[in-house]
Amino acid sequence: MKIYKSIEEFNSYKDNLHDLTFVPTMGNLHKGHISLINFAKKFKTGIIATIFVNKLQFNDKSDYQNYPKTLDEDIDLLEKHGCDHLLIPDDSILDNIDQISASSKATKLCGMSRPGHFDGVLTILNKFFEIIEPQSVIFGKKDYQQLILVKEFVEKKDLNISIIGCDTVRERSGLALSSRNNLLSSEEKLLAPLINKTLEQLKNKKNKLNKSLLIKKAKYLSSKGFIVDYIEACDTESLEETFEIDKKDILIAIAAKLGNVRLIDNILLQKL
Ligand code: PAJ
Repeated sequence: MKIYKSIEEFNSYKDNLHDLTFVPTMGNLHKGHISLINFAKKFKTGIIATIFVNKLQFNDKSDYQNYPKTLDEDIDLLEKHGCDHLLIPDDSILDNIDQISASSKATKLCGMSRPGHFDGVLTILNKFFEIIEPQSVIFGKKDYQQLILVKEFVEKKDLNISIIGCDTVRERSGLALSSRNNLLSSEEKLLAPLINKTLEQLKNKKNKLNKSLLIKKAKYLSSKGFIVDYIEACDTESLEETFEIDKKDILIAIAAKLGNVRLIDNILLQKL
């Protein structure tokens, strides 16, 4: 795997690179990230990953400062799983960066409590798209709203890039893998799978889906010690609230905190 520690270093090599499939990350890699690398192999192109903890997308300074960093292990994992190129820029990538404003979809779900978060995400991704000029970019569906916003951004800007979403990788308990799981205490780790369990229960009751059922589930999670940010049923494209499962597929998304750790997850309910 070829490693580039600056944009300049990458640019001096770029003429040799064509048709790249790109996996953007913030590091502290786990099997969820690796599943994206494995998916990228299907395209039979070169695979490039980035590791950059993007200050612009953090609302909370201590969350940014405490973001787990495991660069040596990340490099080993990427190498082992067949990634071809790794770009690790420093903060100078943010100098004079074009600020992107995400669409109004960014104010829903996670955007309600994280104003500006998706602006930060799109700002750094736009920069990476300009530098790398990838053919395809792979994202996880765990961050469903991020995936939708990136797709919308690429379409609106008419960029010739395919945006691909991959299924969420989970622990046996159902807990979605996340770099933030490492910050959970052992007690919190036992509680965290309740988020996915709640989503599975809602899937099993999808013919009775309504607001009061979601409120009941939120109360249950609160009683177990979660601070529920939201639990919502929404349209898979517009992210507007809807319960019309007889007419269309519906996404149920949850964000909840255990202690200081914010967890998110979602499930797709197929139309009745
Ligand atoms: P990060 O949280 O490191 O995630 C990088 C990619 O891995 C994202 O596309 C995310 O959806 C995916 N991912 C995370 N957990 C996953 C899981 N359990 N299963 C499958 N995929 C999973 O998302 C970001 O970084 C940043 O916002 C970024 C796009 C890099 C921009 O800074």
